Amino acid sequence: MNPASNAPIGIFDSGIGGLTVFAAVRARLPNESILYLGDTARVPYGTKSAETVVRYSRECAGFLIERGVKALVVACNTASAYALPDLAGSFDIPVLGVVSPGCEAALAVSQKRVVGVIGTAGTISSNAYGNALKALDPGIRVVSRACPLFVPLVEEGWTDNEVAHAAIGRYLRGLASEGIDTLILGCTHYPLLARAIGREMGDKVKLVDSAENTADALCRLLDESGLAAGTSLGEPSHIYVTDLPARFESIAQRFLGGEVPPVTRVDL
Ligand code: DGL
Repeated sequence: MNPASNAPIGIFDSGIGGLTVFAAVRARLPNESILYLGDTARVPYGTKSAETVVRYSRECAGFLIERGVKALVVACNTASAYALPDLAGSFDIPVLGVVSPGCEAALAVSQKRVVGVIGTAGTISSNAYGNALKALDPGIRVVSRACPLFVPLVEEGWTDNEVAHAAIGRYLRGLASEGIDTLILGCTHYPLLARAIGREMGDKVKLVDSAENTADALCRLLDESGLAAGTSLGEPSHIYVTDLPARFESIAQRFLGGEVPPVTRVDL
């Protein structure tokens, strides 16, 4: 067995959203130990420039790599869109983003080859999803929308009330009539809005949650690189944040359904 397989998996996000990926990885790989970093002092990344997101992402990755992680999951679409090639080229451990797994899953379900993508302003203006989808299937049509208010709604816990419905209606109106049959939730916060988004889109549009698909891709990656943990649980998982651990902990209850690992504040 590869000695590195006992090391933890590193996951980072600009803040809380990557916990949807944490939850999916924990469910899929219960013997793996996870170190999660949420850069809560500098969230949101979705409104920042590519240069800033790359710099922040390098700092987050460096923090986790110093703690000995065996693989890194960039559980933020904005960071994946802007910084993945840079991170993959800078570190000698496997680095996985959320964009490719989301695209592969969308192509596996789309019959009409017309796919919608929603995400932060940064993710949508990077066109990372459009480029990745067209690289996999040049004939695909992609319809994208930035939905900047969805992140604060999720952070507030307003995932299925009249304010959420109004924002969802406003951002997504007309999207179903563009002919899409699949909608990628291209932000790690959005799975918490899935029920309300699904209602707006109707049952002919399938929602693709990149968290689940990223956990599957990570599982394959660990197997292929001989890094999967053995049968017993290693070190307990831990969460690091760059600001306000108490607020993070209370929001994390919603994302993780109660079982929240210890949360510690750190400086990068
Ligand atoms: N979780 C981030 C993403 O997936 C959104 C939050 C932010 O803007 O930082 O893009």
